[in-house]
Amino acid sequence: MPSKKLNIGMIGYGFMGRAHSNAFRKVNNFFDLEYQPVMKAACARNPEKLQAFADNWGWESIETDWRKLVDRDDIDCVDIGSPNDTHYDIVMACAERGKMVLCEKPLAMNAEQGEKMVVAVEKAGVANMVWYNYRRVPAISLAKQLIDEGRIGRVFHYRALYLQDWTISPELPQGGAGLWRLDAAVAGSGVTGDLLAHSIDTAMWLIGGIDKVSATTETFIKERQHQLSGTKQEVTIDDACAFLARFDNGAVSTFESTRYARGRKNFNTFEVNGADGSLYFNLEDPHRLQFFDNKHESHIHGWQSIHVTDFEHPYMDKYWVPGTTIGYEHTFVNCLADFLKSLEAGQAPVRPNLRDGQETQLVCDAVLKSAKTGSWESCKA
Ligand SMILES: NC(=O)c1ccc[n+]([C@@H]2O[C@H](COP(=O)([O-])OP(=O)(O)OC[C@H]3O[C@@H](n4cnc5c(N)ncnc54)[C@H](O)[C@@H]3O)[C@@H](O)[C@H]2O)c1
Repeated sequence: MPSKKLNIGMIGYGFMGRAHSNAFRKVNNFFDLEYQPVMKAACARNPEKLQAFADNWGWESIETDWRKLVDRDDIDCVDIGSPNDTHYDIVMACAERGKMVLCEKPLAMNAEQGEKMVVAVEKAGVANMVWYNYRRVPAISLAKQLIDEGRIGRVFHYRALYLQDWTISPELPQGGAGLWRLDAAVAGSGVTGDLLAHSIDTAMWLIGGIDKVSATTETFIKERQHQLSGTKQEVTIDDACAFLARFDNGAVSTFESTRYARGRKNFNTFEVNGADGSLYFNLEDPHRLQFFDNKHESHIHGWQSIHVTDFEHPYMDKYWVPGTTIGYEHTFVNCLADFLKSLEAGQAPVRPNLRDGQETQLVCDAVLKSAKTGSWESCKA
């Protein structure tokens, strides 16, 4: 039974507000932890909609100004699920007030902001995490385990795709509720910060740091009506991005992302090829990890499809019986459980922390720079 309370203030009640609220509600039902999050206050700007949200998910109170939320003495930990342009100011305020931080990805609008955020939370000495939740998909965690066990040997290649198709219509506006991702002033970038940031975080967690990149981007629809101003405005996000990457360990790699891949909804895949084996994962088939093990005799060579639902698999002993599955929402429950566990005495700090988020931010910045200069760009600070 949990013996300690952790008071949470959550900012944003959209897609991530729901995913995080669900995690706060459920985490102690599935995981045996010392800490129990208390859903003290939810924050957004529209009080009526926010109150309905708070009532539905069980938040004790509401705030319409995030500064007031951060200032409240009864809040220990601030959870940031608002758009990218808000992350910097909120994290800096949290560091100043000594509050723990759970921040959505991408960490910041750019690496310059990101570095200041990392320095501030490290100086404040507060626990911090970025919600790169795909690390906590059990099949991806299993891929990490197999790589760390040396089962695929020296890694030669990493190949990542992150494809969607929801922005193809030129009639789709940009900016404002639900569409801030198309507005560079709020999102920072397009698919690079939104989708490839996930692919980059996963890749660096699995096989190590990225040294340099060479990228190309495209904006297919040049102008869109802006929801807030009502006028046509230039679109400055990257609708599509493809880049080559060289890893610190010598692996050669490709990453591609677009929101113009008709038929692809959240097609997040990777393949890793090593001297002794290969791995393949596709988020649209999230319980499967494909594994080619070269140590088998050649007459039984072949890709095996591991159904990642056994008690021995990462996180799966916390849920149902072997052969039964969990959902997208549980990746956030798993993240939160790891964060809460890390607060217990003797436990290592949780990863990915803001410093890890900044490593990904540096790669995103280098990708966007390379797309402009046409040159290879370093990902190092
Ligand atoms: N980890 C993931 O897989 C994942 C998935 C989706 C989004 N995200 C990230 O989560 C963040 C939010 O994305 P989303 O899809 O939930 O967006 P959303 O548009 O669904 O929700 C954003 C919320 O923030 C609120 N908000 C905006 N400005 C605010 C302000 N100044 N003060 C308080 N509240 C404010 C909005 O009212 C809304 O409730 C982004 O940084 C995004 O990149 C991460």
